Amino acid sequence: MFYELASSTWGREERDAIAKQLQEDRLTMGPAVRSFEREFAAKFGVAHAAMCNSGSSANLVAVASLFHVKDRPLQRGDEVIVPALSWATTYHPLQQYGLRLRFVDIELDTLNIDVTQLEAALTPRTRMVVAVSILGNPAALDVLRAFCDRHGLYLFEDNCESMGASLGGKPCGTFGHINTFSTFYSHHMSTMEGGLIVSDSEELDHLARAIRNHGWTRDVPSGSPIYEARPADMAELYRFILPGYNVRPLEMCGAVGSVQLRKLDASIAARRRNAERFVRLFAGDARFIIQREHGVSSWFCFTIILNPELTVERKQVTDALVRADIGFRMITGGCFLRHDAVKYYDYDSVGEIVNANLAHDRGFFVGNHPRDLAPQIDRLREVLDAAVPKGA
Ligand SMILES: Cc1ncc(COP(=O)(O)O)c(C=O)c1O
Repeated sequence: MFYELASSTWGREERDAIAKQLQEDRLTMGPAVRSFEREFAAKFGVAHAAMCNSGSSANLVAVASLFHVKDRPLQRGDEVIVPALSWATTYHPLQQYGLRLRFVDIELDTLNIDVTQLEAALTPRTRMVVAVSILGNPAALDVLRAFCDRHGLYLFEDNCESMGASLGGKPCGTFGHINTFSTFYSHHMSTMEGGLIVSDSEELDHLARAIRNHGWTRDVPSGSPIYEARPADMAELYRFILPGYNVRPLEMCGAVGSVQLRKLDASIAARRRNAERFVRLFAGDARFIIQREHGVSSWFCFTIILNPELTVERKQVTDALVRADIGFRMITGGCFLRHDAVKYYDYDSVGEIVNANLAHDRGFFVGNHPRDLAPQIDRLREVLDAAVPKGA
């Protein structure tokens, strides 16, 4: 394809790391995962990181962990404020744990939650806010955290799309009481499949470690605040303390994670150089609403929403992209309220959801990659110029 949606960020080193792991014959979660977790925590300046087999699993484990903290655990029926646009597995664990969702619209330019509506979203049952930085672009995480602190709410940051982004010098994925990352293929770094749960709380970290691993004490450090150890005997070796899952990562994923982490800064710098070109070519053109950077974006990809005042339909534009061999997709899966799965949810919306629906109906994204995309971005501009004549 001339301009792909996603591409591999791997080189020889990742393949060598996998080969070494295979030779060592240690395949299930072990020292390579542990090293990667430590490196990841150090890189993002947090106390703890626990890896699991996907970003979606990380979200599931993060939500589950908040149900088991000693002080003020979440309870079924509690309300959660969420943005109307995000990936499906931002929401599914909330539904699975019996929470009630209050959807808030997004800003059309940043694509992130409209924080001016937070007060209207708050009710006596609100216990948590879910923050999502869409496609590399930091949400107003400082405002969200201050709101949560003011009202005694948990902030859960699903940072699966925005590794390497920051706001006010603080990395995205570190603003929440608990935070998640994805290392799926095409993300800022890839471990094939993978995700991380990150926090500064020892209790949350230990809960996450138990929940990802059968609800078992095996991977929980000794002296943990989450359970009383008993004298070591047979029963103590198989001690299940929580209703957990098996969402452990493979050692190969941990080994590749360490290699990829060392490339992350260079990879994000390359993405940002592409973004400069994209913004230069599209900013200020009223036909195309592009994502407005807030803080420092790690530019997962490039989004365009066709100005709703134009008569041109998205289909005409995406047909032109198909002809030009340019890949595209819905922006982060679109407005979640438009998906069939929402019928299983207990939810309501705060006011009218206008912008998430516009993004759903008139938006799309094209890829960004950690290499020079000048010819692709220039061609995109030509194709869109022809498909959307001025004044259309
Ligand atoms: C916001 C968000 N949350 C969660 C996920 C799930 O991550 P994974 O694909 O690793 O399960 C994604 C996937 O890209 C995402 O965009």
